[in-house]
Amino acid sequence: MPKFIHVSVAWPYANGDLHIGHLAGAYLPADIFARYHRLKGNYVLMVSGSDSHGTPISVEADKRGVSARSIFEHYHERFLLTQQKVGISYDLFTHTDTENHHKVAQDFFLRLLEKGHLFKQTQQLMYSEQEKRFLPDRYVEGECYICHYPNARGDQCDNCGNLLDATQLIHPRNRNRPDDKLIVRESEHYFIDLAQFEPELLKYLDTHAHHWRPQVIRFSRNFIEDGLQGRPITRDIDWGIDVPLPGWQAKKLYVWFEAVMGYFTASVEWAHNIGKPDAWKDWWYNPEAEIYNFIGKDNIPFHTIIWQSELMGVDGIYNGDGDSIGKRYDAPLQLPYDVPANEFMNIEGDKFSKSRNWAIWLPDILDRYQPDAVRYYVAAVMPETSDTDYSWEGFFNRVNGELLAAWGNLVNRMLSFAYKRFDGKVPTPGDLTEADQAMIAKAEAGFEEVGALLEAVKLRDALNAAMTLVREANGYLDKREPWKRIKDDPEDAAKSVYTILRVIDNLNILLAPYLPFSAQLVHEYLGYDGQIFGEQSIVSYDEATRSHKGLVYDGSGAIGRWEKRALPPGQALREPKALYVKLDPEIIEQERAKLGAPLDEREIVI
Ligand code: MF3
Ligand code: ZN
Repeated sequence: MPKFIHVSVAWPYANGDLHIGHLAGAYLPADIFARYHRLKGNYVLMVSGSDSHGTPISVEADKRGVSARSIFEHYHERFLLTQQKVGISYDLFTHTDTENHHKVAQDFFLRLLEKGHLFKQTQQLMYSEQEKRFLPDRYVEGECYICHYPNARGDQCDNCGNLLDATQLIHPRNRNRPDDKLIVRESEHYFIDLAQFEPELLKYLDTHAHHWRPQVIRFSRNFIEDGLQGRPITRDIDWGIDVPLPGWQAKKLYVWFEAVMGYFTASVEWAHNIGKPDAWKDWWYNPEAEIYNFIGKDNIPFHTIIWQSELMGVDGIYNGDGDSIGKRYDAPLQLPYDVPANEFMNIEGDKFSKSRNWAIWLPDILDRYQPDAVRYYVAAVMPETSDTDYSWEGFFNRVNGELLAAWGNLVNRMLSFAYKRFDGKVPTPGDLTEADQAMIAKAEAGFEEVGALLEAVKLRDALNAAMTLVREANGYLDKREPWKRIKDDPEDAAKSVYTILRVIDNLNILLAPYLPFSAQLVHEYLGYDGQIFGEQSIVSYDEATRSHKGLVYDGSGAIGRWEKRALPPGQALREPKALYVKLDPEIIEQERAKLGAPLDEREIVI
C-alpha cells in the first residue's frame, strides 16, 4: 500500500537570496527525501513558499528605501529560478501573501480566540517619537544590560547571545535615526496560552521520541521544562496579515504565528490548483499519513511546540480555502510525524553572516557549478547530527575525487567502452561468472540498505552506503579488466561489461535522489526513454490565489522506481558524454577570495 508522505519545507524569508545554509539546512534533505518516496511509489506532497511578512522583510525594505511588497516579490521570483535550477522538486512553492493563506491564518486566530486559547495583555514596547510608531525589536539598538556590549539589538545580543527585552537596553536608540527619541509605551496584544497545551505536547513528544533525532527531542522537552510562557501573536507593524477584529487595524498577526500554517495552506492551494479541491485531505485528515517538517535547528520551537499548539487548539475546525469558505470540518488536522531539523553548515570555519557577506549565494555558484556537484558535496557533509563546514577545498576534493573519479569515470568509461566495442548495444552475455553474479546481487541489495537509511532520514549515511557500492563496482572492474580480456576472450569481456552496465543502472537509481540531473542522463545513455522524475515549471496563477507565480512539480510522467533493474541485453545505447566537469584547483583560492568581499550593488528595479 502506498503511503501518504507530506514533505513540509521551511519557508525562506523573502528578503535576500538563497544561500548554501538554506540548501543544507532544509531544501536539499527535503528534496532527496521526497524524490526517494516518489521512487518508492508513495504519494508525496512537498510544499513551501516565500515567507513574505514580518520585520525581516520590512528591515530590508527600509534599508533600500522601497516597499516591503517590492522586496518580497523580487526575492520570491529569484527563489523560483534558483530552486528550479538546483532541482528542489516542490509540488508547490508559493508564498504567504495569497488570499487563501490570509483567510486561513485569520480563521486560525478566531478559532483559537473562540476556544479560549488566546489572552490579551498589555506590553511595554519601544516607541519612536519621530516615526510615531512602535519600533520592532530589531530596529532598536543599545547597550546590552547583561554583558554591556554597546551595540546589542533589541531582540538579542550578538556578543553574549542572550535574548533581550528591548525596553531594558541601556541608552536605547533607533537604528535608522540616531537622533530619534525612544520612549517606552504600552500596547495591547494577543498571546497564545501555550501552557494549556503542556500535557498534550508532552504526550506528543513521548509518542514520537523513538524516531525523532535526539537533539530535536531534547531541545523540545527542555523548552517545555523551562516553563511554557504565553507568546504574543500580534505585532505593532504595518506589513503582514490583518488581525481580524474591529479596532485592531493598526496591528498585524505575528509572522511566525502564520508562516507555519503555510504547510497547510500551500497544500490546500495545491489541491485547488490541480482541480481537486479536496485532495489535501489525504495528508491532513489521514492518521496514516506522515508529515515531515524539514527545517534548520534555529526553527525547532516553532515546529515542535508552537505549530503543534496551534493545530491542537483549532482542533481541526477551520473555514477552508476559496472553494469552501464557511465550511466546517470536524477531523483534527494531522500533527507532524517527524521534524528532522538539521544543524548549521558553517563556511570555511566561520559562521554564515549576511552583513559580512560570509556566505555562499546559490544564484552565484549555480552559474559556475553543476547543480549535481553542489548537491553531492552538500549531501556528503550535511549537518545532520552536528554543525559541519563547507570548504572550497572540500568541495574540490569531493567533486573531483569522489563524484567524478569514482562515479562519473566509471559510468563514462564503461558506457563509452560498450558503445564503441559492442556495436552501440548492451552486450548479450552467456552465463555470468560467480563474481559477476555476486556483484549484481550486491548492487541490488542496495535498495534495501540505502532505502532503510533514507526512510530514517539518515541521508548522509545513505549516500555513503551508495558510494561504497560504487567503489565496490570499481574494484570489481579492476579485477575483471574487460579492456584487456576483449582481445583474448571477448565472451568473457561481454559478461563483465554486461555486469557493470547492469550494476551502473541499479546504482544510478540509488543515487538519483541526490543527483537527479545526471541520473536522467545515465538513464538515457543506457538506452531508456522517459523521465526518472517529473518536470518542474514556473507557472502564474490568478484570482483565487491573487496574481502570483509558483514553482510546481508534475510527476505524472515519471517512470523511476526504487527497485532492482534487469538491464535488457541488446538494448541500444546512446552515445555518452562526460557527466561531470572536472574542477580546476584554482577555484579554491578564487572562491575563498569572494568570501567577505563587499557584495556587488544589487539594486532593486521596481
Ligand atoms: N522564514 C523563517 C526563516 O527563514 C522560516 C519559517 S518556517 C515556517 O527562518 F514554517 F514558519 F514557515
Ligand atoms: Zn550581551
